[in-house]
Amino acid sequence: MSSTIASPTAPKIDFKAIQQLMAPAMSQVDKKILRELNSDVLLINQIGYHIVNSGGKRLRPMLVALSACALGYEGSEHTTLAAVIEFIHTATLLHDDVVDESDMRRGDDTANAIWGNAASILVGDFLHTRSFEMMVSVDNMRVMELLSHTTNAIAEGEVLQLLNVNNPDTNEAQYLEVIRRKTAKLFEASTQLGAILANKDEPIETAIASYGLHLGNAFQIMDDMLDYTADVDELGKNLGDDLAEGKPTLPLIHAMQHGSKQQADFIKESISKGDRTAYLDILAIIKSTGSLEYTAAFADKEAQKAIDALNILPNSDYKKAMEQLALFSIQRSY
Ligand code: IPE
Ligand code: IPE
Ligand code: MG
Ligand code: MG
Repeated sequence: MSSTIASPTAPKIDFKAIQQLMAPAMSQVDKKILRELNSDVLLINQIGYHIVNSGGKRLRPMLVALSACALGYEGSEHTTLAAVIEFIHTATLLHDDVVDESDMRRGDDTANAIWGNAASILVGDFLHTRSFEMMVSVDNMRVMELLSHTTNAIAEGEVLQLLNVNNPDTNEAQYLEVIRRKTAKLFEASTQLGAILANKDEPIETAIASYGLHLGNAFQIMDDMLDYTADVDELGKNLGDDLAEGKPTLPLIHAMQHGSKQQADFIKESISKGDRTAYLDILAIIKSTGSLEYTAAFADKEAQKAIDALNILPNSDYKKAMEQLALFSIQRSY
């Protein structure tokens, strides 16, 4: 398989077609999300609607529904669990934008930019705890076990990342450990939920969870590349946030190993200082060292592992859509 960079002519994935396939399920999920956002505390409603209605891709809840459908589940609990997953995701974004001092998300001002850090953290907590109320309503111990472990792992990932901030000696293995926990675990849980709901045996559950995990890795690796290479308007987030935060992401780790001593020293200093003004110079270096190609190829491999994990599933439009989503995660520009 080839990457978007290595092969700009690769056929474009039609994300809209996948959205159309899942439209009936996702409209139920959206209704559930809006119902559950309700609080008699006005600020919670304001911030909740601001972030939830600002046009996220809804990838993770879509994966819950896709996985349930691909495994023949015919009940309705996937709607609640998809909403739970989006609430957890949204809560982490509210917190993440405070930690990363980001001021743009989904093409709009971040909640912290509008209402401040305290409000963002507290409403993030509201979404998190509401998600637990919702998951309890499903009354399935395996679901609660999985989601409590998952939210715990995400928190560990974010703290682990904090420990690597401004540390240019962070290596690839440490980077991969952070993204596995902070991002890939939630993708893994999303797809595993489908198997739990459909009461599938262990090999299927393991396979579909593995699909989610590798897809999540691919997704975050591309996110870290897009932080340098994307078009701001398309991405809906500012570029250079990772550098400003001093995050040693994969393109930089590769460039420090493969660039000249001068290039490596420049990157090290920029990570140590968290220097956004070095952005264009760093971009030139990661281009010249082949680090963007390396990063894209790494994401490709993860997407391919995700697709391979689906081999065990029966063929269906849903399985095909899951394969396409793995490719979308590495082709995306937003
Ligand atoms: C952003 O995730 C956070 C990462 C793990 C990179 P998405 O790109 O899925 O965010 P939305 O929900 O579509 O805005
Ligand atoms: C993903 O990392 C954060 C979470 C898993 C919450 P990033 O910090 O790269 O995400 P963006 O770029 O702000 O969306
Ligand atoms: Mg961030
Ligand atoms: Mg990012």
